[in-house]
Amino acid sequence: MALGLASSAALVLATILGSLCLVALSEDEQLENLRFVRRAQDAPLVSHYNYIIIGGGTAGCPLAATLSEHSRVLLLERGGLPYRNMSNQQHFTDALADTSPASPAQRFISEDGVVNARARVLGGGSCLNAGFYTRASNDYVHAAGWDARLVNSSYRWVERALVFRPDVPPWQAALRDALLEAGVTPDNGFTFDHVTGTKIGGTIFDSSGQRHTAADFLRHARPGGLTVLLYATVSRILFRQQEGAPYPVAYGVVFSDPLGVQHRVYLQDGGKNEVILSAGTLGSPQLLMLSGVGPQAHLEAHGVQVLVDQPMVGQGVADNPMNSVFIPSPVPVALSLVQVVGITRTGSFIEGVSGSEFGIPVSEGVRRLARNFGLFSPQLQTGQLGTLPPKQRTPEALQRAAEAMRRLDRRAFRGGFILEKILGPVSSGHIELRSTDPRANPAVTFNYFQEKEDLDRCVHGIETIERVIQSRAFANFTYANASVESIFTDSANFPVNLLPRHANDSRTPEQYCRDTVMTIWHYHGGCQVGAVVDDDYRVFGVQRLRVIDSSTFKYSPGTNPQATVMMLGRYMGVKIQAERWRK
Ligand SMILES: Cc1cc2nc3c(=O)[nH]c(=O)nc-3n(C[C@H](O)[C@H](O)[C@H](O)COP(=O)(O)OP(=O)(O)OC[C@H]3O[C@@H](n4cnc5c(N)ncnc54)[C@H](O)[C@@H]3O)c2cc1C
Ligand SMILES: *[C@@H]1O[C@H](CO)[C@@H](O)[C@H](O)[C@H]1NC(C)=O
Ligand SMILES: *[C@@H]1O[C@H](CO)[C@@H](O)[C@H](O)[C@H]1NC(C)=O
Ligand SMILES: *[C@@H]1O[C@H](CO)[C@@H](O)[C@H](O)[C@H]1NC(C)=O
Ligand SMILES: *[C@@H]1O[C@H](CO)[C@@H](O)[C@H](O)[C@H]1NC(C)=O
Ligand SMILES: *[C@@H]1O[C@H](CO)[C@@H](O)[C@H](O)[C@H]1NC(C)=O
Repeated sequence: MALGLASSAALVLATILGSLCLVALSEDEQLENLRFVRRAQDAPLVSHYNYIIIGGGTAGCPLAATLSEHSRVLLLERGGLPYRNMSNQQHFTDALADTSPASPAQRFISEDGVVNARARVLGGGSCLNAGFYTRASNDYVHAAGWDARLVNSSYRWVERALVFRPDVPPWQAALRDALLEAGVTPDNGFTFDHVTGTKIGGTIFDSSGQRHTAADFLRHARPGGLTVLLYATVSRILFRQQEGAPYPVAYGVVFSDPLGVQHRVYLQDGGKNEVILSAGTLGSPQLLMLSGVGPQAHLEAHGVQVLVDQPMVGQGVADNPMNSVFIPSPVPVALSLVQVVGITRTGSFIEGVSGSEFGIPVSEGVRRLARNFGLFSPQLQTGQLGTLPPKQRTPEALQRAAEAMRRLDRRAFRGGFILEKILGPVSSGHIELRSTDPRANPAVTFNYFQEKEDLDRCVHGIETIERVIQSRAFANFTYANASVESIFTDSANFPVNLLPRHANDSRTPEQYCRDTVMTIWHYHGGCQVGAVVDDDYRVFGVQRLRVIDSSTFKYSPGTNPQATVMMLGRYMGVKIQAERWRK
């Protein structure tokens, strides 16, 4: 994909950054080549910038690259560089499986009982995700009140930098044909657009399976305009009461380096400089609260001095429930992450991921794949999460399930998952502080399926998956004797999916949705537009502070959000620059 870079210096940088994830260099060696990226411990104790962006993630990187064109920008990221073993789709699960404090994926378990993960690395969620790239619908763009032309040019900017057309292997092609046969029509071919029917979308994995991430946007930065600090954990945004200003004014941030040393960064004097929070759905509301902007009683309970009583901070947090079915295959299946999506008329989106054949044993391939999709949990040992209702997913229960799983024949793991995610969702929950440690996860409640509308959408999705499994188009990848019922209940032949058993043994589709709920990691909200930020993403009740990331969404955009998160970073960067230079 073309770059169109001006100077040769920029070209050198582009080459280095373009291969950020690919080179086999150590972090030291990489940093030597990346002059504007440094570790926090090497940063001065005090510094000044036009823009301070908190969080070098999926939105923060394109935003920083854009604002650096005419201003001095500091990008503060608590994680390190995306390293080599994160870069190939073969290793999709490695980071998620790594639960060490240095892992690029910080695990959290929501109060609902579902295992989940958040990014801790330059490039954010785009370094961990399944790579699928697809835009929001025109209706979504309209409802958000965005400028549709700038939205489109921002999507195109993103797509030129790091989006590819996938090579579709037979299992994914069969899924596409099966969706069409199951009535998810028309066939929309290959497109980034969100339209009803079945399509092939984009991917951030290139044709050799290498991942490109939001960190690659930094190649578009003006090197003299950008400083990136790694391992810089922001603990607080600083505010002051300024004469003539009706509200507290943000004037800097405090961050700690890995040695525990606190550094301060201040906004340069002058009217239009700003602090921008891009710390993600968990990080942005958490940091607002830690800085004294949030629900008064809750902040007081944690001994945080209240600056602005803002009851909506941390509210309206949602995660689209995902339910998946493992389809054992009589023939070997190549590894593929999400490439095809069925956009139904009933508000569910059907996608699939399939197992691996190359290099690693089949069973290991699918086990790895399964880990990511929450069916197995590496930390809590490999275990059949899907057969345990969320609240029963205790370490002991998972351990037992794990042992059962280990005894299975490797052939049991040959195949793929067909999953469905619902639109919206309508159900939502909240984020609360657990402690005042910025490194600790806040408590997150999503309230999956609290609203009936969400449950109905799930049931329709599962019904569509049943039609897919039974279709002629998918017949090569299912056992002839595998009825939908047997896939779920025949433990001798199809041991990977087992329906959770209840005393009343009710097997309604509704119960199936509730019991097998997982995450597809599309959580959002907590700093919603209209509740915490205004239409220009400025935080209500304070000045010189915006939030720009997935925490501002009311509903998840498109079928998968990353395209729109990246687009928003670019879009707001362009708008903020235009405002800055407006007379
Ligand atoms: C496993 C997985 C699979 C997914 N699959 C897909 C997919 O296939 N397609 C798709 O479209 N979407 C997918 N998603 C979702 C998508 O990746 C996310 O919606 C998106 O990355 C969110 O972007 P963000 O900018 O809001 O947050 P993030 O990208 O998480 O960025 C937030 C950044 O802020 C940093 N930060 C947080 N707190 C602090 C602090 N106190 N100080 C300094 N830095 C801080 C974090 O380290 C992080 O880098 C997936 C996500 C995951 C996790
Ligand atoms: C990935 O690579 C990093 C750096 O080389 C290493 O520290 C980490 O343990 C590796 N993780 C896995 C899961 O292999
Ligand atoms: C933006 O692009 C979409 C297709 O991706 C198109 O339907 C829409 O009309 C475009 N909007 C504008 C204002 O160009
Ligand atoms: C199933 O596999 C056979 C043998 O490889 C092939 O000829 C046939 O076209 C496949 N069917 C479908 C629907 O793809
Ligand atoms: C289903 O088919 C497989 C493969 O042919 C066979 O091993 C298994 O015993 C069959 N199961 C049933 C219930 O007939
Ligand atoms: C069946 O049992 C489960 C768990 O005990 C319960 O949540 C559910 O409501 C019951 N369903 C019916 C239809 O009684």
